[in-house]
Amino acid sequence: MPITTCVFDAYGTLFDVGAAAAQAAKEPEHPALATVWPAIARDWRLKQLQYTWLRAVAGRHCDFWQVTQDGLDWALEANKVTAPATRTRLLELYWELAAYPEVPAMLAALKDRGLHTAILSNGSPAMLDAAVQSAGIGDLLDKVLSVEDVGVFKPHTRVYDLVGQHFGCARNEVLFVSSNGWDAAGAAGYGFHTVWVNRAGEPLDRLYAAPQHVLPDLTKIPELA
Ligand code: LAC
Repeated sequence: MPITTCVFDAYGTLFDVGAAAAQAAKEPEHPALATVWPAIARDWRLKQLQYTWLRAVAGRHCDFWQVTQDGLDWALEANKVTAPATRTRLLELYWELAAYPEVPAMLAALKDRGLHTAILSNGSPAMLDAAVQSAGIGDLLDKVLSVEDVGVFKPHTRVYDLVGQHFGCARNEVLFVSSNGWDAAGAAGYGFHTVWVNRAGEPLDRLYAAPQHVLPDLTKIPELA
């Protein structure tokens, strides 16, 4: 089956999640971030994701904004950053994360070919709406799908079901793109054609399925669709 629909993970794939800590560290109001911001960015992301997996397994869903705050609180405490204004600023920046530079042209190339484009993300609808608006890519996306429609986080298969439910397409008509190795594995196991965007040059996750393609960034996605 030819690909009809290209679906993207949001955080880390289209939007640079490291940008919030990097930006706040440049601002004079947050001196405590000067040396520890890379550790905070790493711990924040890791805890945020761990909390999504644990809540999915435990059947204790909350929205992604809650796990984003909880993950940040763990990271700030671990790195001994206590200023409330720094917490507030980091959370504020999460609502306006930069998109990676190749994103607009890549999405425009997919639209030129007549493909459907969408986001499928753990993010809450309000968070995703803010990120899409801030990046100015709303006109290049046919749909933004949030796990809040099913009340469980990725990689639960009910989340990947949202694509077929919305677009009426078969699993093997979908090209799914994620920078998260575990999300790429989940989507590949579900039956999507899957691309893992491995910007950091990490090892492949040892899970139950593997992506068909591994790319260093999003530039060549239109060649696969
Ligand atoms: C998302 C997270 C996993 O956007 O990055 O779904």
